[in-house]
Amino acid sequence: MDKRITVAIDGPAGAGKSTLARRIAAKLGFLYIDTGAMYRAIALWAIRLNVELSDMHRLEQLAEQATIDFLPGESSILLNGEDVSVPIREAGLGEAASKISQIPAVRRALVKRQRELGLGASIVMEGRDIGTIVFPEADVKIFLDALSEERAERRARELDLPAEIVAPEMEQRDRRDRTRAEAPLVQAPDAIYVDTTGMSLDEVESALLKIIRERTSNGKERTH
Ligand code: DC
Repeated sequence: MDKRITVAIDGPAGAGKSTLARRIAAKLGFLYIDTGAMYRAIALWAIRLNVELSDMHRLEQLAEQATIDFLPGESSILLNGEDVSVPIREAGLGEAASKISQIPAVRRALVKRQRELGLGASIVMEGRDIGTIVFPEADVKIFLDALSEERAERRARELDLPAEIVAPEMEQRDRRDRTRAEAPLVQAPDAIYVDTTGMSLDEVESALLKIIRERTSNGKERTH
């Protein structure tokens, strides 16, 4: 039986992690898991229930009680059976997710679920702590980055907002994600750093596929 492959992609907001991880997973026939979507889903649930984002105890309960699944073959995320893929992308949810992701018990619950989701299949999982905490033994670790101006422009295009509005919020969120006490965003020592500034999606995709092929089976793609 072929060995299962785990590809971990970490990096700051707007580096292109989600788009690239999705494309690479589709190319290789691996499962794609967007862990940021999981933090966003818990934040969305808290907001709907009027739970303060600083209420550590209630947020821990929500993270433990939540049922989170991904529809196979798609990037849709289900929170307690409801497809929340669209509402978790609304403005403000990234910020809310970043805030609640500072709470150790929330992280503990979601990391447990992330490890379960990664069992039994070859996966591409992206987030902030995949190569460092969730799967420190991952076969391939990539740290995806780009200059902050370009990341802000990409995010602005996605949200259809001016870059001047998106940039300060994004910088503040990245600072929080990089400096929090629990599982901060850092490059794993054995991760490959890829600067995507000025590169097209196709160029980055080829570069990442090359890295993955070099690090896995004799340059051959593997499935499950
Ligand atoms: O990837 P994203 O922008 O959708 O993630 C939203 C927030 O969730 C991010 O600012 C920090 C948090 N997050 C995290 O702490 N750990 C992860 N593995 C993924 C996301």
